[in-house]
Amino acid sequence: MSKKVFIKTYGCQMNVYDSKRMADVLKPHGYEVADEADGADLVILNTCHIREKAAEKVYSEIGRLRAEKEAKALEGKNMYIAVAGCVAQAEGPEMMKRAPAIDMVLGPQTYHRLPDMLKSAEEQRSGGRRSARVLDTEFPIDTKFDHLPTDSDFDGPAAFLTIQEGCDKFCAFCVVPYTRGAEYSRPVADVLKEAQSLVDKGVVEITLLGQNVNAYHGDDGKGDTMTLGGLIKALDKIEGLGRIRYTTSHPRDMDQELIDAHRDLKSCMPYLHLPVQSGSDAILDAMNRKHTRDEYFAVIDRLREARPDLALSSDFIVGFPGETDQDFEDTLDLVRRVKYAQAYSFKYSPRPGTPASVNEDQVPEEVKSERLARLQALINEHQLEFNEASIGKEMDVLLEREGKLPGQLLGRSPYLQSVHVDLTKGDNALDVAGDKPYTDFMGQLVRVKIVEAGPNSLKGELVSALH
Ligand code: SAH
Ligand code: SF4
Ligand code: F3S
Repeated sequence: MSKKVFIKTYGCQMNVYDSKRMADVLKPHGYEVADEADGADLVILNTCHIREKAAEKVYSEIGRLRAEKEAKALEGKNMYIAVAGCVAQAEGPEMMKRAPAIDMVLGPQTYHRLPDMLKSAEEQRSGGRRSARVLDTEFPIDTKFDHLPTDSDFDGPAAFLTIQEGCDKFCAFCVVPYTRGAEYSRPVADVLKEAQSLVDKGVVEITLLGQNVNAYHGDDGKGDTMTLGGLIKALDKIEGLGRIRYTTSHPRDMDQELIDAHRDLKSCMPYLHLPVQSGSDAILDAMNRKHTRDEYFAVIDRLREARPDLALSSDFIVGFPGETDQDFEDTLDLVRRVKYAQAYSFKYSPRPGTPASVNEDQVPEEVKSERLARLQALINEHQLEFNEASIGKEMDVLLEREGKLPGQLLGRSPYLQSVHVDLTKGDNALDVAGDKPYTDFMGQLVRVKIVEAGPNSLKGELVSALH
């Protein structure tokens, strides 16, 4: 009889990718993926440590799962609780002490050893123990990518592909270098092979992932390394791969080859998440970001010269230790100059083990809240403006999911906007309503005319199918 694994994913897209790989590695051991914890034999929480709130969520989830595990035990059934991801890496041994219901703790670099860990956990519990004590948060010499299968079933036309992991930059606020370890780039041949197999399954859009994706320098198999720009050029040759995106980039690693890829390659989407965190030189320096605001503007100028319609996105932290009113005004000023199509902003959250967390100049909570509200209002204003400027334009949309209304499919524009496409309206309406069910368009790139815009999404009508 097959067993069931439920994997709950928190945090960034890299965790989404890793969760899939964990499912793939468990499949040959008889585990099927379940979509809820209820009834699962194994529950894996793939956690995030980036901000305090993200980590706290994990402990409350374990509390809920413990009740379920105990209820199952009364029926004589075993349920295993595993914690993976960045909280596991950062706080593994403490977690085991704080939450004894946990059977296994595994760090992001040890997922290929999951079946072995599960076996030890089963052995430990076969003697009647309520929980096993399996902990593996090492950074092994051999990379997980050499051992993790990548054979998931088709799961929609847009897929993630991790090409780089870890970070050597040590921004003063960030836990990633400690939880994901040193920077590592997968060899070019491995990336191309995985991309081809995704396209063979029907994937049209690939988002290349890395904590520092544009620091990519993969072995090209000819004794040299290839940068991200070169890799995108190589991926562009894969027939059927219509769209390439990448995230997250660091402003310092935006080299000319990558900028040129935006100018020269149709598949390289005109959207870029390029976090700046702050618009103040003093804060950028204190954050150890290693660039000034003017250097950031210069990169943006070069990008916009190469691709004038490029939509930009960013992350911001408000209330970093020592941030003055003037520093914050500089951030607002930067936002007004760049005008992001969308952006994420967060209150600074001290993370254990990072240099900024022990800085004595912490900003009071109410100041952080007030600054965050002002920043978000400005970002939202620009986002709405950007979306409204799309009205009347035609653009390609990759249809990914069914919408709420009949005849409606949801997809993304080249600029990563969500678009609700009504296939019963527009020039092709009759075809769709007649002998061709609208769901046939799922997974396809279609030409859409935008007719309405809101703060978070667009509405459009079908102009033509592209394929
Ligand atoms: N590699 C990316 C960021 C990854 S973390 C980069 O270099 O920009 C994602 C985002 O979380 C960061 O961009 C930052 O805005 C936010 N973040 C990270 N640590 C944080 C902290 N301690 N407090 C608040 N936000 C934080
Ligand atoms: Fe964290 Fe990104 Fe800085 Fe690396 S570059 S330390 S991932 S914020
Ligand atoms: Fe979170 Fe780890 Fe990603 S801390 S954002 S899950 S790299």
